[in-house]
Amino acid sequence: MRKKYMLGVAAVAAAAALALTGCSTGRTDAGSDSGSGSSIPKGSLIGVALPAKTSQNWVLAGDDFKKSIAKAGFKSIIQYADATSPVPSQQSEINSMITKGAKAIIIGAADGSQLGTQVAAAKKAGAVVIAWDRNILNTKNVDYYVAFNNFHVGELQGQALLDGLKKEKGDGPYNIEVFAGSPDDANAKVFFDGAMSVLQPKIDDGTLKVVSGQTTFQKAVTQGWLAQNAQKRMTDLITANYAKGTKLDGVLSPNDTLARAILQATKSAGLPNPVVTGQDSETDSIPLIMNGTQYSTIYKDTQKEAQAAIDLVSTLSKGEKPKTVDDKNNNNGVFNVPAIELTPVLVTKENAVEAYKNNATLEKLAKAGE
Ligand code: BGC
Repeated sequence: MRKKYMLGVAAVAAAAALALTGCSTGRTDAGSDSGSGSSIPKGSLIGVALPAKTSQNWVLAGDDFKKSIAKAGFKSIIQYADATSPVPSQQSEINSMITKGAKAIIIGAADGSQLGTQVAAAKKAGAVVIAWDRNILNTKNVDYYVAFNNFHVGELQGQALLDGLKKEKGDGPYNIEVFAGSPDDANAKVFFDGAMSVLQPKIDDGTLKVVSGQTTFQKAVTQGWLAQNAQKRMTDLITANYAKGTKLDGVLSPNDTLARAILQATKSAGLPNPVVTGQDSETDSIPLIMNGTQYSTIYKDTQKEAQAAIDLVSTLSKGEKPKTVDDKNNNNGVFNVPAIELTPVLVTKENAVEAYKNNATLEKLAKAGE
């Protein structure tokens, strides 16, 4: 179904696929009251609060926002959460953006469940609150969510793992392990659920075996999205389940940073290279994809994602109503946050050069490894 959707074979199939994954086909949504444009005059201050730099996409985001905001005719204040105390530092950064009079506050949450007080204050001060890449949970005080379709990211990862196993490990059944991202990031569960929607039926029919038996999100999580935590868990899983010759065919990894950590663990243990998925198209992973060490990644163009948030601000500034989707995967515990969803792209060695043709840095890396 997903394949049909991606190839755009038929409008009917696309609609059915969207319905199945819980996405609406897009509708106009007014957002909440603060969405009325007059509240963001041209030239006003836009605050951007980003999490700690746990992956390259966040590093890139700062500059991308700076450029997009200036180009759209607004002023910007862009801040990152502190790696050692991400939650309190981000909370105080948002408070200071409110004090400085930011008319829109764009937030990539360090912890999506810890910002209720800050977004309530932002709304009270008349700012538009936009959750960016990561949703903000358990509050009505978020106007919009701008992100890539996270559930679809997971579906692509799950399908890539299956395809990679078939291509590289012959006929199944296959032994795998599954990893998830950080539980304080609302995306992590959605990525995992998307992937498991593809993998679970294959676990049930015996094509896949999770040898450790650790198939739940709670068991699979990687606190803080930290490489060392994934590497440690993989090492422990190997010691407990693969030390006596049981083969490990593949690993579901939710992003590239963790994929490299997982591959480091299998290499140190002297295991043959498993099929490993990823996400983010990090410059350290592309050479590994091109030489066959990491099987796949996902391309989520950070510049496009930042631009989508700024386009939204511009639309509101003009007093127009943005076009949003109502997707249950963007439910924040209170409501489905009206969203602008971008489409992620699966990348393997086969399509890397083509997939990165709008990005000189990534295209060069892909071409170098051809
Ligand atoms: C982002 C991913 C990223 C992860 C770790 C997620 O919220 O969507 O692209 O890999 O955070 O930083």
